[in-house]
This record gives sequence, structure tokens and C-alpha cells, in this order.
Amino acid sequence: MIYLDNGATSFPKPRGMVAAMEECMMQYCGNPGRSGHAMSLKTGEAVYRARRSVAELLHTDHGDRVIFTKNTTESLNMGLYGILQDGDHVITTSMEHNSVLRPLKALEKRGISQTIIQADTEGFVSPMDFEKYVRPNTRLIVVTGASNVTGTKMPIEEIGRMAKKRGILYMVDGAQAVGCVDIDVEAMHIDLLAFPGHKGLLGPLGTGGLYVGPSVEIEPLLMGGTGTESKSRIQPKTYPEGFEAGTVNAPGIIGLGYAADYVRRIGVDVIGQYEEELICYLEEKLKNMEFIQTYGPAPSRKTGITLLNVDGYNGEEITSMLSDRYGIAVRGGYHCAGLAHKTIGTWNQGAVRVSVGPYNKRSDMDRLADALWIMGKQAADEKK
Ligand code: ALA
Repeated sequence: MIYLDNGATSFPKPRGMVAAMEECMMQYCGNPGRSGHAMSLKTGEAVYRARRSVAELLHTDHGDRVIFTKNTTESLNMGLYGILQDGDHVITTSMEHNSVLRPLKALEKRGISQTIIQADTEGFVSPMDFEKYVRPNTRLIVVTGASNVTGTKMPIEEIGRMAKKRGILYMVDGAQAVGCVDIDVEAMHIDLLAFPGHKGLLGPLGTGGLYVGPSVEIEPLLMGGTGTESKSRIQPKTYPEGFEAGTVNAPGIIGLGYAADYVRRIGVDVIGQYEEELICYLEEKLKNMEFIQTYGPAPSRKTGITLLNVDGYNGEEITSMLSDRYGIAVRGGYHCAGLAHKTIGTWNQGAVRVSVGPYNKRSDMDRLADALWIMGKQAADEKK
């Protein structure tokens, strides 16, 4: 199959990562932080190294502030529920994924109000828009680093500067950005960064994390065993274990650590640039096909995504046909981000998202463009 659904999860995975996970599971996997025996200690050390690897990729020395979770959704919920209290106000954007918009909707019942800034039709928001909506009780700004629908890269550094100036906490949803956009949490004034292990970092599914800056305090989302202070009924708030209650996914985290090193060695910017070139190449081919509409900004202003529709089909139909007839994997529909589709004008029909990764080649773009051309031509001929 030609895999062009890297926005959902990256595929394939680095071989060395699979080997690191297998070595852990077959040779030493004890429960980290739960005992002083050699297997528990060895696993604990490997998990610690993974934390350092992720911290290094994010340009911070605070590996202890990298909390591992099962995915970005859990990380975002941890940040939102861990910070917001009755009476607080949050600013976010119309390009957010439901993993931000649904918890914020639920938090209204706890007395938390929100302003959703309307992005333009390419998905952009301006840092000045945020400034306009700041209220005395604005506690948090939450913004996606890059849209999962259009790939639009948000001005996260500028927004961070403004948030810092106004004394507002700042959380970035890094689901589509980490691994292809170089994020420096300190230079960009990011207080909380939610990220997946399995997308741009090329790690295993079921892994993710939340970076919490050293001057930020949050409440834990889950309470339970931490391997520390076992005689106390009170949840410890020490980092990271106070925020990782229960047994962690050690093999997954070790795989994620390996993959984070792998991506860092190749270079996040190198990967971002390569993916941009693939998307440029594809969009150059699509631009002469009059029955194809593309959405979102130019390749240099987005991640490796092309969002499109073909006249005569809806997004789900194109996705099924590409899979069944041409062996090409993409994602159609609304991408768990209905409001983003409303923003860019695809509320009625949805759209097809092509999302590339570092293992894709130009020949994959050729195959996709040929398939889309045949499908579009067929629909146009049938209409005549
Ligand atoms: N949120 C993921 C996507 O955009 C799953 O496909």
C-alpha cells in the first residue's frame, strides 16, 4: 500500500525502534519505579533516557517535566483539567481538533468560559487577534501548532511572546507539528506542550506526552500508585511520577525515546523540508486538474498535508476508491475537527487529507496524482 495517512499515525516505523521495544520486552522489562531489583531498575533507567531524548528534541533540560501519556488527547485533557478552575477564561481557535474543543465545551459546566477566534479560510489566526480577546480572568491560551486538517502552521512563537507579556499560560497542541516543525519550548514561551509519540516522532501508537514548564503547576488527571510515598492517601505532585499514576507503557516509551533520537539525528527541519518538497511536487501536478479543489495555504506555510476534493465525489468515496482500486491510504471526512472544516468552507462535503511522512517518495505522489486524474476524468465524462 502507498501510505499517505501520516497525519493519523506515521508508517512505517524505524526498524531500530522495533528492536529496542523487543529487547525490552524479551530481556528486561520489569515495572519501572516500583522495586529495587535489577529488571525494574534497568527499565526505569531506559524510561528516564526516553524522557531525556524527548526533552532534548524540544530544546529543554527539564526531562523530569516530560510526562508520558497514551496520546495527545490525554495530554491536552491533563493540561486543561489540570489548570482551569471556576471563573477562568480560555482563548482558542476555530482550527482546533476536538481533543481541545470537546473538553473545553465540557468545562463550561464547571464555570470556565471560552473565546474561539475565527481563523481565516486558510486556517490562520493572527497573534493580534488573541490580544483583542484577553480579559482580566484569561488564564490560558490553547493553540494547535499545525492544523490536522490543512497543515496550516500557526504563529506559535509570536502568540507565546504575547501570552508571556500578558502573564497568560500557553498550551500548544503539538499533534501535527512535533517531529516536522522545530519546537523550542523555552524560546517560544510554551508553558505546556501536548505531543503524540506515534506521528511525527515515528514512535509506537499508544504513546504521547505533556511537557509542563518548570514554573507551571498543574493538578494530576489520574490518581493512584506512583511507586513513591505509598503510606500516604494524598497524590504526590512530584514530577514526573505524580502525573503518571499506574504502570506506564515502558516498552512503548522506550520505543518513543529511540524514535525521538532518530528524528533528532536526521533533523526536524530536514524532515519538514523534505515533506514540504513532496507536497509542492504533488500540488504542482494537481493544479492543472480542473476537477480538483485544494484547500489551505501554500506548502511553505503548512506541514506535509494536501487537503482536496474531486468533483463528483465526497471525501469518504474518494478515500474508499483510492484504497480499493489503487492501494493508496488517505483520510477523508471531517478529521475530528468539524469547526476547522466550517472555517475553510468544507462543512457540507468534508475533504480528503493526503499527509506525507519521511518515508514517502515522489513516485508515491505520481501514483496518487494519476489515480485522482482517472477518478476525476471518469466523473466528468459520466456527467456529460
Ligand atoms: N487526529 C488524527 C488525525 O488527524 C487521528 O487523523
